[in-house]
Amino acid sequence: MKKIAIFASGAGSNAAKIIEHFQYNPEIKVSLIVCNKPTAGVLDIAGRAGIPTLLIEKENFFRGSAYLGELGGYGIDWVVLAGFLWKIPVALVKAYPGRIINIHPALLPKYGGKGMYGHFVHEAVVQAKETHTGITIHYVDEFYDHGQIIFQEKVEVLPGDTPEAVAQKVHRLEHEHFPRIIEAVVNQAGGAALPNQR
Ligand code: GRF
Repeated sequence: MKKIAIFASGAGSNAAKIIEHFQYNPEIKVSLIVCNKPTAGVLDIAGRAGIPTLLIEKENFFRGSAYLGELGGYGIDWVVLAGFLWKIPVALVKAYPGRIINIHPALLPKYGGKGMYGHFVHEAVVQAKETHTGITIHYVDEFYDHGQIIFQEKVEVLPGDTPEAVAQKVHRLEHEHFPRIIEAVVNQAGGAALPNQR
């Protein structure tokens, strides 16, 4: 059984889709939700799904154990970042080499890096009059939005699109692709083929 910990800071719509996707999977299980915000919607989603949660705080995460003991206690094999706004400490990156996956709501390397998250990304895309945006699913290393790209998918940005309209289009792509890409990557680590990469 491969056990996934989802790290999230916000509403958790991606976490909800991932939980739903693996609900009846005999080999892959969402075993833990890690969150840094006591008021985050993802905690309610975890509660309704009966999935344990771990509330983390900065000091211990960045200058302590990075909660490696707790992750080990749950037998976590994979870390999936779904709207987690803190950088991943080197200790955690090293403990899970090639086993941490993130989704970014733009076509990296553009519109990535510190401070480029959520609404800020879509505002920058609209501001720049981009004709396309999209999602990037990538491995996580010790730099923001920097690891090897696993999958990208594009969506058109129309001239009249507001950042909210772009956010909605991107969210739809995230919900459509993230769960199945996670499944393919986790299975591939066990030998199956990777999804068709763009
Ligand atoms: C998504 O846009 C994702 O791309 C980004 O954070 C957001 C999370 O949204 N990393 P939600 O909390 O899953 O709804």
